[in-house]
Amino acid sequence: MRNQIVAGNWKMNKTASETESLLDELSAKLPDTHASVIVAPTFVNLSTAQNSLQSSTIVVAAQNMHFAANGAYTGEISADMLLDIGVETVILGHSERRSLFGEDDALLAQKVKTALDKGMQIIFCFGEELEERKSGNHFDVVKSQLQNALFGLDAVAWPQIVLAYEPDWAIGTGETASPEQAQEMHAFIRSTITEAFSTEIAEQVSILYGGSVKPNNATDIFSKPDVDGGLIGGASLKAEDFVAIIKAI
Ligand code: PGA
Repeated sequence: MRNQIVAGNWKMNKTASETESLLDELSAKLPDTHASVIVAPTFVNLSTAQNSLQSSTIVVAAQNMHFAANGAYTGEISADMLLDIGVETVILGHSERRSLFGEDDALLAQKVKTALDKGMQIIFCFGEELEERKSGNHFDVVKSQLQNALFGLDAVAWPQIVLAYEPDWAIGTGETASPEQAQEMHAFIRSTITEAFSTEIAEQVSILYGGSVKPNNATDIFSKPDVDGGLIGGASLKAEDFVAIIKAI
């Protein structure tokens, strides 16, 4: 059975003290679950989160990183810096990084390579914009995002990869893909990976759905056979909501 994962992307939210109190509440309320639970606070609060979660199974992830080992990249964070504080998981290619900070497939391919070479686990995000869905291009867009960033990799890298399909039009908008739309795309992603690599790799990789997952729609979305969990933005900022979503898997 594939790993089931519920990951919270906190984006640019929560101070250090707020990080501590949210994680304390989350730890206290965390249900027994077969799923891996991940939280991704902002860079400056990663160590705080690691300390708060020392005796917890919750994994701390970064929201981004640079591809270079080190050097003159003002404002950036390297893989070694993350690893040095015990952070071994990183979200790459989030739609906000793509649309607001100009990250393209070529740049993401470099970030992916660095993270994988360093032995990190990546949560690789991708998904179409509203216009692309409206014009019926969403499958082509998703395929090319995967091809450009991931299909040059060696097959052995795949156990380090988690995919997160996040249609841009569903992120932070309150508009979610229907469970059927999510399933249709996730099945397409799996068949694309089968073609490029193998059935075994396609069947092993966890594919998360992201975009306005809330306590009231999580059960339906997670019930779909090719949906292996969720990447949660807004609803991960309230322990009660995040816990309800974890219970839904
Ligand atoms: P949302 O964000 O749940 O607030 O829509 C999801 C994400 O950006 O990963």
